[in-house]
Amino acid sequence: MKFKSIGVFDSGFGGLDILKGIVKKLPEYNYIYLGDTARAPYGNRSQEKIFEFSKQAVDFLFAEGCELVIFACNTASSDALRRIQQEYLPKKYPNKRVLGVLIPAVEESVTKTKNSKVGVVATVATVKSEAFIDEFKKVNPKVKVFQKACPLLVPIVESGEIKNPATDIIIKNYLKPLIDKKIDTLVLGCTHYGLLENKIKKAVGPSVSIVSEARVVPDKLSQYLKRHSEIERKLGKNKKIRFCSTDITDSFQKLGSLFFGKNIKTEQVSL
Ligand code: DGL
Repeated sequence: MKFKSIGVFDSGFGGLDILKGIVKKLPEYNYIYLGDTARAPYGNRSQEKIFEFSKQAVDFLFAEGCELVIFACNTASSDALRRIQQEYLPKKYPNKRVLGVLIPAVEESVTKTKNSKVGVVATVATVKSEAFIDEFKKVNPKVKVFQKACPLLVPIVESGEIKNPATDIIIKNYLKPLIDKKIDTLVLGCTHYGLLENKIKKAVGPSVSIVSEARVVPDKLSQYLKRHSEIERKLGKNKKIRFCSTDITDSFQKLGSLFFGKNIKTEQVSL
């Protein structure tokens, strides 16, 4: 069933946290969520693969009626978005748009930091791409950015081990180098880290502000739609939501519902 909508894409189900915030802020629109669960996680993959998979996701979502697609996935936003915007869309879909989650997080961090030292925690691929560093340079080159890849955190969330006491120790170890650099703002640069926010907050202490994309992106999208009426006009407004994934696993149903905040029914699709 096709309908004019906003697409939200993630490697798996973590992006449902972002979708939840977007639907709350902008309930009138139609949405299609796509999680590439058959090939997730993306965070340890090469840039080429992430680009190829993200392009297929874009093709699928546009074919299903999306006018605008949000990459809720930081790894796809870091490793594929710029090429998709600059090379792929102009050739194949000149009237459609794809946006990511990095710029909203960077803009928010720049307004929050007082000492101009910002930490970013993310997947290995996101850190390696240096996309966050590039975006900070564009928005405010004076801000010093300290990145830390946290490859164990996605598997911890996906295996339901958030409450395991070892998780606190792992988080503390990952964050220590950033705390030593005296950051006063920390970007949660991965869809899954929202579920670990309380533990991360405890580890960094009250003097560090946390930037959560799930809180920032909905407002930024709302402002974008106000500025871009040519896109906004084309969006369907029937409050329909479709959830699609490339593999239906128990964890997609279980953790997906946890991230989205209510039970979801998923359709299996192939890209
Ligand atoms: N969605 C990814 C991100 O935000 C995390 C999971 C993965 O590695 O695919 O970077």
